[in-house]
Amino acid sequence: MSRKPIVAGNWKMHKNTNEGINFASSVQNKLLKVGNVTVIYAPPFTGLFQLKVSPPYHKSAQNCHWEEKGAFTGETSVSMIKACGAEYVIVGHSERRQYFGETDELVNKKISAIISSDLDPIFCIGETLSQRESGETASVLKKQICDGLNNIESLSSIIIAYEPVWAIGTGLTADAEQIEKAHSHIVNVVSELYKKINVRVLYGGSVNSNNADQLIKIPKVDGFLIGGASLDVESFSSIVQIVEDNEEKK
Ligand code: PGA
Repeated sequence: MSRKPIVAGNWKMHKNTNEGINFASSVQNKLLKVGNVTVIYAPPFTGLFQLKVSPPYHKSAQNCHWEEKGAFTGETSVSMIKACGAEYVIVGHSERRQYFGETDELVNKKISAIISSDLDPIFCIGETLSQRESGETASVLKKQICDGLNNIESLSSIIIAYEPVWAIGTGLTADAEQIEKAHSHIVNVVSELYKKINVRVLYGGSVNSNNADQLIKIPKVDGFLIGGASLDVESFSSIVQIVEDNEEKK
């Protein structure tokens, strides 16, 4: 896996199929040349199949079930996601943890299933405000990583999205020092578990076109997972452009 930065748009429960298709083509028309960034769209399941993309644009699901098939009403397996042409699956997003009971154990089952199908998880972790205030950030992140990757013996690359829960959809972003510290810690924890692993750490939490330039320059930030600002053509395109330009200058 390359070290190209990633800009991923998590559409959450927004955009029907046609809206998603129109959005992606508007972004592509705006950004005529994207060579240094991997752009990922994560539409709702209903929009996944018909959204046609080609590199540098890619598709991700927002969730999956860990079983291959079975009597699991309302669920979608990784092989079904793969058949839609998606290459990534977001897993462990804080909204899934908070509203849908996604525990570290379930995250682990999902990550195993994703990796077994040769897709890439975008593994989300992050502390709540009270955990940060009580000085537990490092231990919470470590536990989420170790439990999420439990029994996964070999791994050559992983994408982790560090999303402080208190920064998601709130307009608050973590500051540069908090982000650099968390990302370094994440890389260290993962590198202790696996030798020679390519870890990319995305930052997520109120990223927008005004703060992206500052955020992408923070050491160990390999791109973004974006919610709100990924829904608007202007702001999403401008974030991709900022990351593209930043990479070009390196
Ligand atoms: P936000 O969401 O950019 O709206 O804060 C980020 C996310 O939930 O991935």
